[in-house]
Amino acid sequence: MVKPRSTPLWALQLSIAAGAVLAGVYAVAQTPASAPDAARDARMHWFREAKFGLFIHWGLYSIPAGEWKGQPVPGIGEWIMNHARIPVKEYEQLAAQFNPVKFNAEEWVQMAQDAGMKYIVITSKHHDGFAMFHSQVSKYNIYDATPFHRDPIKELSEAAARHHIRFGVYYSQVQDWHEPDANGNTWDFGPDDDHKNFDKYMTEKALPQVRELLTGYGPICLIWFDTPRGVISAQHPDRGQRFLDLAHQLQPATLIDGRLGVQGDYVSMGDNAIPNRVVQGDWEVPATLNHTWGFKKDDTDWKTPEDLTFKLVDIVSKGGNYLLNVGPTSEGVIPQASQDNLRAVGRWLKVNGESIYGAGATPFGPELGTPDPSRKDKKGNPVVVPLTDWRCTTKPGKLYIHLFKWPGGSFKLAKVSGKVSRAYLLADAAHKRLTVEQNGERVTVKLPAQAPDRMDSVLVLETR
Ligand code: GLC
Repeated sequence: MVKPRSTPLWALQLSIAAGAVLAGVYAVAQTPASAPDAARDARMHWFREAKFGLFIHWGLYSIPAGEWKGQPVPGIGEWIMNHARIPVKEYEQLAAQFNPVKFNAEEWVQMAQDAGMKYIVITSKHHDGFAMFHSQVSKYNIYDATPFHRDPIKELSEAAARHHIRFGVYYSQVQDWHEPDANGNTWDFGPDDDHKNFDKYMTEKALPQVRELLTGYGPICLIWFDTPRGVISAQHPDRGQRFLDLAHQLQPATLIDGRLGVQGDYVSMGDNAIPNRVVQGDWEVPATLNHTWGFKKDDTDWKTPEDLTFKLVDIVSKGGNYLLNVGPTSEGVIPQASQDNLRAVGRWLKVNGESIYGAGATPFGPELGTPDPSRKDKKGNPVVVPLTDWRCTTKPGKLYIHLFKWPGGSFKLAKVSGKVSRAYLLADAAHKRLTVEQNGERVTVKLPAQAPDRMDSVLVLETR
């Protein structure tokens, strides 16, 4: 039995009761809201305030950068050892070449701050088994096995502390393609994972390395576990419990993500998977700026600042956090296009951050999209065709209407509960009052001809 540290937030079952679109609000089947839990609320407070974090995937895979022996390797960059079936003896030779002399923790953290990001999560050990920190458990790490001979996780954790940005680590607790008893490498240690002694790997490497991360790198805001596979699951809850117990014992405030394999502190959505409706509880969308987590030299299909800003607002308007990834190069440089696009979002947040940080989900719903009864998703529910003109985030007594498509003239809202006492544009430092007409729940706000922001103009409605 997994003993979660407090009232569990069970993974949400999202389903639309067939056709049950009630008054424009989607009926979302979800676990009954757990009674208010002060301890849980205290633990989750920073996460609910932060809303926007930086994910960093950095490791030996940044050297081949999507190509092996002159051939492009399809798929996400950090999986190159797996996708190209590179033998351990060949892949580990990359370590001798890894010397990211341009790495500068201060610059990376400053970029996160410029982007308006409030937490950082970096890969400390990914599926390839190579530790990006000075591990005493395994010499297969950046300090001992490379000419770089430094500990970037330590340098980043210290820089994050200087900038008051929370610091977390990604740790692949089940897959380790360097180890014969971990999951995942069936080309050196095949034919499958079933005959391996996973408990030996877990006890001799995974748990001791998680202990190192929780004892040597200051406050760790969260551990981002990944791909639990079957070996850590409801069928083997004891294994997951050992990771939970370790974290509870060493750093009780450290949050556990949704991919340990047993109950964590919040739900991790699928990669780049933004739900199409409001989701209750605490959750996070991990997402890429292009199509890969680890650096690939030929993937320059960057999401635009407009798209990134919309996604951030869209996720927050549904109740979640946005963990947006960069894949630094083998020299230790975050690609310039990544930096530029993230800084553009940061400039928007500098003006409009009040509508994001600590904000809650929309009270409306129809603005998110319309169900198309003629099309069913794999659960048999009507496919929701997303709408993108506007979104709403909330704080007590405030509605933040994010206008991506400037309506000009006026903006009309239905189903507004309470009286709108004031309306103004968040980007207007003077918060000059706009004319509001209200008839019951129907509200019309007169708007200037020009949108204050080309990406997202925020209209604030104060209600009482
Ligand atoms: C998937 C990939 C992994 C990546 C993660 C990020 O689990 O296996 O490489 O780190 O997504 O969400």
